[in-house]
Amino acid sequence: MDLFSSIDVEPARRRIDELAARIDHLNYEYYMNDHSEVSDFEFDALLRELQDLERQYPQLASPLSPTKRVGGEVNKSFPQVTHRFPMLSLGNTYSIEEIEEFEARTRRLLDDTTFSYTCELKYDGVAIGLTYRHGRLVQAVTRGNGTVGDDITINAKTIPTIPLTLRGDYPDDFEARGEVVYPFAPFDAMNAQREDIGLEPFANPRNAASGSLKLQDSAECAKRKLLFCIYFMMAPDGISLPDTHYQRLQYASQMGFRLQPHIRECRDISEIKAFIDYWDRERWNLPYAIDGIVIKVNQTHLWERLGLTSKSPRWAIAFKFKAQRVSTPLLSIDYQVGRTGVITPVANLAPVHLGGTTVRRATLVNADFISNMDIHSGDYLLVEKGGEIIPKIVGVDLEQRPAGASPIQYITHCPECGSPLVRPEGEAAHRCPNTDGCRPQILGRLEHFVSRHAMDISTLGPERLQLLYDAGLVHNVADLYDLQRNQLIGLGTEVGATIQDKSADTILAAIEASKQVPFHRVLFALGIRYVGEVAAKKLARHFGNIENIATADTLDLAQVPDIGPSTAEAIAQWFSSPIHGVLLQRLRTAGLKLSEQRTTNAENQTLSGLTIVVSGTFSHFSRDEIKAHIEDHGGRVASSVSSKTSYLLAGEKTGPEKLRKAEKLGIPLLTEEEYLKLF
Ligand code: IVH
Repeated sequence: MDLFSSIDVEPARRRIDELAARIDHLNYEYYMNDHSEVSDFEFDALLRELQDLERQYPQLASPLSPTKRVGGEVNKSFPQVTHRFPMLSLGNTYSIEEIEEFEARTRRLLDDTTFSYTCELKYDGVAIGLTYRHGRLVQAVTRGNGTVGDDITINAKTIPTIPLTLRGDYPDDFEARGEVVYPFAPFDAMNAQREDIGLEPFANPRNAASGSLKLQDSAECAKRKLLFCIYFMMAPDGISLPDTHYQRLQYASQMGFRLQPHIRECRDISEIKAFIDYWDRERWNLPYAIDGIVIKVNQTHLWERLGLTSKSPRWAIAFKFKAQRVSTPLLSIDYQVGRTGVITPVANLAPVHLGGTTVRRATLVNADFISNMDIHSGDYLLVEKGGEIIPKIVGVDLEQRPAGASPIQYITHCPECGSPLVRPEGEAAHRCPNTDGCRPQILGRLEHFVSRHAMDISTLGPERLQLLYDAGLVHNVADLYDLQRNQLIGLGTEVGATIQDKSADTILAAIEASKQVPFHRVLFALGIRYVGEVAAKKLARHFGNIENIATADTLDLAQVPDIGPSTAEAIAQWFSSPIHGVLLQRLRTAGLKLSEQRTTNAENQTLSGLTIVVSGTFSHFSRDEIKAHIEDHGGRVASSVSSKTSYLLAGEKTGPEKLRKAEKLGIPLLTEEEYLKLF
């Protein structure tokens, strides 16, 4: 279908509106009411139809379309914006006496009035302000220094609990403020994935939420499953809002914001203290981190009477929970070997109760962590649990150091296979270099290969993979494809988990089905260091097949968006190994997909024979989309301008180096509009 054709666009406009309304409704039901009306499959089909239409008719795509939830727009920088209303912070305290003083002072200042308080959770994330005009989200800005913040609208649009358009009745112009938090479940899943591909895990959900809002690729932000917790509404003069803070939040909920249920109206200090006590105990059962309780005077007309101090209002205060800390003996250290050979020391501690759970183990991170803390054998370690779920070792309780204790000597050999450990320059971790002979590394690679986002052979869990490995049947991922039914049946009898006829069949069927898994997932499944799902997709798209990747040098590899020099180095190294060459040959023989199947636009090959360099940002497409569009229409995308370039497709903020080179070589420039006119 042409991009700009003379045919009537009305039917497309109607269908786009219809799809957008339906998807908005389904999103609302899912994220606000925890209710799915349709299957994931049906939802994806609707979304894909809308994406396709918007790609065909970019002039009809709304900036608030639900497709923006999936991301795809690339942001090079986040412009600084001055807040219309400064974002104040709150006075805070760890002392319950100071809360009593706050309450007594407020009562004194308002002595002739009846009033109440709202008590809410103090969400531990990143504060943002959302401006809505005429029921539409126009801008999302981080708190920054309170006066100036970063415009992160593109990423905010991917957060499902931030409504893009409002429902029912709403003020014509207002700002909703709240905290973007990273709930524990998706945070843990993301960290596990990061570790899987050899990346440093994020330290805590707050830092990760903050980093997510600043991601250049909004599609990446969309995957993070962030949550917006609204805690404040304000409007310019002349626009009225409900009288109490509590009602304002209820009002926001009717407009489509997801209100956290843990808000109480309290009449006096005893109710406030009961709320604080309750959440000090219960905070560990929440799905996200909080670091305290916020108490606000509920009647908003009293806020002016109470006024502000230099930087915070006198009508609110935050009570902060203390991080809980205990001291407990270090019993021993386990050294775990990961899939990539990285060694992680883990402390076995005398079990101790901390923040609602019993702590028995905590990471010691790496050799530097142990030596910087100067941990000795038999030491009592200080373990702390703040807003996060994972306990952290924060120091040594020196008063309890046993006489004659000596510093921990870090291991020099792999605890699993005995190989001497190496510590590559510039890296913090020790690694076992025996990639092909070290059991946990082999099993780790197999587990990664069969995992859901990779080959999805879910019938082979870790125990079964161990059985197969220990029986000498599977040593590498290619061996899975040689498995025979009779080899499987009866396996596992010694451990009471015998594989029967039926399980053998399901295992073999899942292995067979994995041959249809698309190339980019096969590439991810290989477990090349630093090549996560996103990088694998980009590599597959860029190179098209495994041979092109295998023969690319580090410079070629680093041309791919988001592939940095260390990833490029890791990929080149992986493919240079003869063992991996044999492995790939066997996977090819087994019938795995080792090339990308392109859905090209067979009718329209307008760009055939042209080599186009794409630079800058575009208003109708993300850069990846425009590249895909070029390739789908027969063109070739190159990453640097050379004499072979036909056009430089120059978006906004095109790289000056590329412009200079194009000028020097006489390569014509194309604007986005000119490009669209080619069709
Ligand atoms: S009210 C003028 N309510 O805590 C009142 N803040 O310094 C504005 N926070 O950066 C804040 N949960 O981001 C409020 N329920 C809540 C909150 C909350 C977390 C954050 C906020 C601010 C900091 C207070």
